[in-house]
Amino acid sequence: MPHNSAQVRPATHVDVQAIQKLLNHYASMGDLLPRTRDDILKNLEHFRVIEQQGDIIACGSLENFTDELAEIRSLMVRTDIKGSGLGREIVQHLIEMAQARQVKRLMALTYVPIFFHKLGFKTVNKEIFPEKIWGICVNCYKFKNCDEIAVLMEL
Ligand SMILES: CC(C)(COP(=O)(O)OP(=O)(O)OC[C@H]1O[C@@H](n2cnc3c(N)ncnc32)[C@H](O)[C@@H]1OP(=O)(O)O)[C@@H](O)C(=O)NCCC(=O)NCCS
Repeated sequence: MPHNSAQVRPATHVDVQAIQKLLNHYASMGDLLPRTRDDILKNLEHFRVIEQQGDIIACGSLENFTDELAEIRSLMVRTDIKGSGLGREIVQHLIEMAQARQVKRLMALTYVPIFFHKLGFKTVNKEIFPEKIWGICVNCYKFKNCDEIAVLMEL
């Protein structure tokens, strides 16, 4: 089972293509927001990945809005191994990173709140994150009709 040997590590330039491929897949289904290669490259230091036999099988990033508020973004697991604990592995790692950065609130926008609830997040009203809404969401193609659910963990 892949999760038995799962090791989360920082992403490098070599991983960008694989991250983009995984992201394109989920973005094309509307599950995740698309991101350009430049956007991924600019935020590469925040990405963590799990690699197996030369392929990226899971990834996620931790991006700060302010010193006290961070977001989990681009969280995804390769389709054929969803449900084997890798998503949890990545999120737990990102929670530890957030704690080390002394972030007080960790949020995500998602279509799978149940997954986040299992990890201790609570569903909240999006309006409590003006930093996100007016900094990032305002530029998103879903801005006027966003149906994603906000989840929050207080650290
Ligand atoms: C959401 C996602 C990252 C979860 O990763 P995963 O490796 O499949 O999930 P895990 O195996 O770590 O699951 C952890 C728990 O959440 C539950 N869970 C995971 N996905 C779920 C779903 N879609 N619906 C209900 N429960 C779910 C699992 O059953 C498990 O519960 P358990 O502890 O009771 O056994 C992954 O399914 C994915 O890549 N989805 C598509 C992209 C996406 O929507 N990303 C989230 C963006 S915020």
